[in-house]
Amino acid sequence: MVSTYNPVESENSGQHYLPRLNNPQVNPSPNQELLPLSAKVNSQDGLEIGDCDVTKLVQQFGSPLYILDEETLRAACRQYVEAMAKYYPGASQVLYASKAWSCLAICAIAFSEGLGIDVVSGGELYTALEAGVTPDNLYLHGNNKSRDELTLAISSGCTIVVDNWQELHNLVDIASLDKQVSPIRIMLRLTPGIECHTHEYIRTGHLDSKFGFDPNQLDDVFAYISQQPSLNCVGLHAHIGSQIFELQPHQDLGAVIVGWLQKASAYGLQISELNVGGGLGIRYTESDDPPSIDEWVKTVCYGVKDACIAENIPLPKLLCEPGRSLVGSACVTAYTIGSSKEIPEIRTYIAVDGGMSDNPRPITYQSVYRAVIANRMSAPLSAKVTVAGKHCESGDILIKDATLPATSAGDILVVMATGAYNYSMASNYNRLPRPAAVLVNGGEANLIVQRETYLDLIRQDRLPERLIN
Ligand code: LLP
Repeated sequence: MVSTYNPVESENSGQHYLPRLNNPQVNPSPNQELLPLSAKVNSQDGLEIGDCDVTKLVQQFGSPLYILDEETLRAACRQYVEAMAKYYPGASQVLYASKAWSCLAICAIAFSEGLGIDVVSGGELYTALEAGVTPDNLYLHGNNKSRDELTLAISSGCTIVVDNWQELHNLVDIASLDKQVSPIRIMLRLTPGIECHTHEYIRTGHLDSKFGFDPNQLDDVFAYISQQPSLNCVGLHAHIGSQIFELQPHQDLGAVIVGWLQKASAYGLQISELNVGGGLGIRYTESDDPPSIDEWVKTVCYGVKDACIAENIPLPKLLCEPGRSLVGSACVTAYTIGSSKEIPEIRTYIAVDGGMSDNPRPITYQSVYRAVIANRMSAPLSAKVTVAGKHCESGDILIKDATLPATSAGDILVVMATGAYNYSMASNYNRLPRPAAVLVNGGEANLIVQRETYLDLIRQDRLPERLIN
């Protein structure tokens, strides 16, 4: 028996976080949910994702464990693609910003849903290529691409999103050394100078940013490119930041980027693609209220379309490149609770078997998460505890003052909405092996990232002979 969500009865239990699927009018936007769309509670009061019991997944694959729901990831991909087709009358393409979580399976799923992939390093490019993504669907970003990365990008035939003068010169130089190379397909990244409210570290669109050309130099850049037969500049790119809940900055971006496009024609450049970046936020707590994927895409499309109509120019191909809102809400991290420490009248800590190495976001950005106890989803939320990681660092706190049922060692604590920038920023701090990740769907669970072993931890170490005792 699967219990359906009842807001009154479930208000004071983990069921509170189940997706709002009981309303047939609502096609839930994954980024507005805390748990993946397939989340349910089974007759043993256990959390199921993709029809797999989370506690059993931990028994099978170990702990901690990233659990990725295929249904949610695919739903988010489809909502982006469908909304682009619905709101933008010209050609369009959605790219997955794979920095959010780069691995073979996720690149393959996104590509199979018709998305291209945005990569920011040789490593991400290699991953996407190995996942079977065709080069014409790949875009390489980065503010300091190495010559090796540029060479890999050129030889594989992907589009390079050029960030600065040094890179332009490097490309011209590389092309001059290899006369066989056909003109290199590039886009230009510009800093849009649009302010938005998000954490300072993840804001990229304001003028004081390390990313992109200063738009005040646009004439010089266009003049230079127009003289370079080895460069084929097809488009312009801007990204204003990440975890953004406001729509206005994205509306404004349309006019800014179309303004740049107009300038290009004066230099004889045929620019036919505009990429408006990513940035749509997701819900990490009940009080987060991001717009839906549909609303965001509509804003972005209308922003560009309206500006083109106002300027009487043909619609360019429109690209966007979300990361977090595709993968963030599709994944949870399951941990096993171990020790606890009660400091009377101050705080109770419960410790889990991971922490800042598998989720560095709380310590880096003071990000707030919510958790449930997977093996007791209906138990009343009667305790306020602080969920600590196991690292030798006082700041290794996953959730401060979490509201949970009474817990004991061995319970499975599930932190929600951990798909974006968790695995991709994970480390081996304190030499913890990075967790495994499983993809769940319809009762099947497939390993997509293997758990690291102690052997993996020393694989790159070298012990010079003179140090061997
Ligand atoms: N495009 C560009 C050029 C970007 O720099 C980013 C993110 C994206 C697309 C995707 O943005 P999204 O849709 O995921 O918001 N580590 C931080 C987030 C850094 C975002 C960097 N750029 C975090 O954990 O919050």
